[in-house]
Amino acid sequence: MSPSTDFVPFARPSLGPEEEEAVLAVMRSGWLTTGKVTKAFEEEFAAYVGSSRALAVNSATSGLHLALEALGVGPGDFVVTSPYTFTSSAAVARHLGAEVLFCDISAEDYNLDPEKLEAILATTPRVRAVIAVHIGGLPCRMAELLDICGRRGIPLVEDAAHAFPSRFPAGSLPAALVRGKSEPLAGTLGAIGVYSFYATKTITTGEGGMIVTEDPVLAKRMATMRSHGFDRDAFDRYTSKTASWYYEVAEAGFKYNLPDLLSAIGREQLKKADRFLEERRSIARAYDEAFGGSPLLETPPRHPAHSWHLYSLRLRGPLAARRDEFFERLQAAGVGASMHFIPLHLMPYFAKRYGLAPSSFPEAYAKYLRTLSLPIWQGMSAGQVERVAAAVLETAAGFKA
Ligand SMILES: Cc1ncc(COP(=O)(O)O)c(C=O)c1O
Repeated sequence: MSPSTDFVPFARPSLGPEEEEAVLAVMRSGWLTTGKVTKAFEEEFAAYVGSSRALAVNSATSGLHLALEALGVGPGDFVVTSPYTFTSSAAVARHLGAEVLFCDISAEDYNLDPEKLEAILATTPRVRAVIAVHIGGLPCRMAELLDICGRRGIPLVEDAAHAFPSRFPAGSLPAALVRGKSEPLAGTLGAIGVYSFYATKTITTGEGGMIVTEDPVLAKRMATMRSHGFDRDAFDRYTSKTASWYYEVAEAGFKYNLPDLLSAIGREQLKKADRFLEERRSIARAYDEAFGGSPLLETPPRHPAHSWHLYSLRLRGPLAARRDEFFERLQAAGVGASMHFIPLHLMPYFAKRYGLAPSSFPEAYAKYLRTLSLPIWQGMSAGQVERVAAAVLETAAGFKA
């Protein structure tokens, strides 16, 4: 296949004049960092996901760190998560001096396997939290995970970095789990949920994230620790005539706030979230149709609540062992593919610390070897989607020859 000049990137943010205007308005307002715009973003986000509290943060990594800190995770504790994820999902436990316990993923998807989780929790005391990651926006088996954690009183944190918006259809989860919501979103079901607005995510602020929880005590702790451990919102002390200059530092907190400049982008992106989702769904459908008949390609698992942050294709048969070569040929054909994820138990840090081998988590390892992610972003033209599909099919055919 000849190299193409018309490269289709793996990801591209969808920003328009609305975001530009909103950023300019903040620049001209005289206040750049966390303030009224961020507060409005939090309220609008909470309303969108149907949660009573949302806290804007400068990344999902910060949000996960705050979540575990608020739950009291510390030295001597274990935090269980999947190895098939980005490092943040596990590293935040180490930030607090706790140890990570990996639990392998299911055979049928890329997420925590409830049966394996049950076995781990049954034999390991001092598991202080479980972090369930909705990989690529494909929701975890939440009814089972919440039941398993709930029976043991272990809080479940949702790493919903990829899962915005992942809306479960009405009646698809037990009523007792959904807190009265008719169509609950992934991220709003556990004790705490954390979303990411990193540059490649389904809505973006460049860098950023949002935490949601229904628990006022956890929310207060995370709000305090997000802003230097201040005892109250201190941002208006520079701009309000009535605000007091006085504040107290109640804890040794972090600096994890999201500035108004970025929240302004987030508010505009949020307004477009439903349309963005529709666009990604239609790209996923087009790929499914294109690859569905191929014995060499396995399309991703379907779920009505999939946010389609990632479209992960698995190679089968003779291609399964040649993913890296497939990847290179696809790049050469003008398609910006990527790989999600190199399992954490292969990463030197976690492998050394916990004495792990590739075979320690066989499902995660086997999926990793034959998976690659294709471009899926709102704003991709029909022509670009067709080009990606054609390049994938031609690349696959090229291997057979
Ligand atoms: C599954 C998962 N969790 C957490 C994060 C951290 O997100 P952020 O970059 O906003 O810190 C990422 C980042 O890509 C991720 O993929």
